[in-house]
Amino acid sequence: MSAPFLAEFFEFLRFQSISTDPQYTPQVEACARWLDQKFQRMGLSSRVYPTGGHPLVVARNEPKPGRRTVLIYGHYDVQPVDPLALWATPPFEPRLENGVVFARGAADNKGQILAHILGVEKTLTETGDLPVNLIFLLEGEEECGSEHLARFLEDHRKELACDIIAISDTGMVARGIPSFTYGLRGILALEVKLHGAEGDLHSGIYGGVAPNPATLLARLIATLHDEAFRVAVPGFYDAVVPLQDWERAEWARLPVDEAFFKTVTRSHALMGEEGYTPVERAWGRPTAEVNGIGGGYQGHGSKTVIPHEAFAKLTFRLVPDQSPAEIEALVRAHLERHCPPQVRLEITPGHGGEPFLCDPHSPQGLAARRALTRTWGREPALIREGGSIPILQTLQSNLGAEILLLGLALPDCAAHAPNESFPLENLEAGIRLNQTLLEELARA
Ligand code: BES
Ligand code: MN
Repeated sequence: MSAPFLAEFFEFLRFQSISTDPQYTPQVEACARWLDQKFQRMGLSSRVYPTGGHPLVVARNEPKPGRRTVLIYGHYDVQPVDPLALWATPPFEPRLENGVVFARGAADNKGQILAHILGVEKTLTETGDLPVNLIFLLEGEEECGSEHLARFLEDHRKELACDIIAISDTGMVARGIPSFTYGLRGILALEVKLHGAEGDLHSGIYGGVAPNPATLLARLIATLHDEAFRVAVPGFYDAVVPLQDWERAEWARLPVDEAFFKTVTRSHALMGEEGYTPVERAWGRPTAEVNGIGGGYQGHGSKTVIPHEAFAKLTFRLVPDQSPAEIEALVRAHLERHCPPQVRLEITPGHGGEPFLCDPHSPQGLAARRALTRTWGREPALIREGGSIPILQTLQSNLGAEILLLGLALPDCAAHAPNESFPLENLEAGIRLNQTLLEELARA
């Protein structure tokens, strides 16, 4: 890895482009400008588009008739860094250790998009041209639901029209095993709040009398699953397409058994729906998750109080053919039915995204798989993954193009967690992957 690559990667990682927290907006915008300047230096025409939220960066080469148009999508925003105390070194001061770069966004998604950018730069330097008409579309709101991208796609349909959308914002099944991701889960986020008394109360004076929203919230959350960890919301599984025999067989051959999941999650026991293997539950089954729960005293020691409200942040991971809108209606009805009468229920809907599934045997899918094979010298694993890229269906329907997911993150990359990492080995492989991918897609 030559020094300029590493210096550029570090520069990119130093931007605190946390999209969910308005305090970081100047850093998000500076990161967009940095990308824009990088593209201009590469000889691409590039622009930063304001969106009403965080800006988009769109860059392209000079289109030539008769060539395929490939759009590379990615995101330069990152997740918040908390809990900060668990980082070995500060999240925005990148560190290289044994060939692995540690920083927030290293894997999700800066390292992966930089691989594409550097791949394009290398091809341009080596040959003076690209084999395809290329568009980079990089957004700054993926980690908070891509709120403004849909509108932008509608307004810029014509300029962004393309044949293929290539995305590296997913994972590899293991180090050195190239992976073609043909499915992702969708998502529905909801916040539930229970309101009790008008204000907090002394729990000695009023305990046993006043409603306790924290206690009642625990009960309400408990109604989301049955004893076997199946989601107990009526109708939740109605639209679920069962796993196919071929995929269950393919996944069973991959190095993702129960022991793997215990190691990678650093858990002594696993939890989830009965009747499915861990990999099937993570990639191919829907879930209900509590992402956060709060209310009442959170400080040191004890404070004898009955909180006047309690909240939970929930997400539901969805699989084909569940839709976020339908699941939201079912979940609302379930929560309303089970909400204890002593408290008032408030539901605030969050972001949503459809599940994604494509045909790994399509001509473009086969071209992508050839590129992966050429890059790593072995056939890619065919996988689905549990994460979500909420904008996928919107990208596909607006631009009328097929989506290819070619991830470079490793299972232990700690995306969204402290000490996120990305190996330089994968940055290098990603650069080669971009070069072979554009070549393969040009003739597919
Ligand atoms: N890159 C991830 C999605 C992902 C992770 C796909 C791992 C496959 C494997 C993406 O940036 C992400 O984290 N998405 C969020 C979406 C949410 C914030 C709306 C997710 O999945 O939680
Ligand atoms: Mn992410």
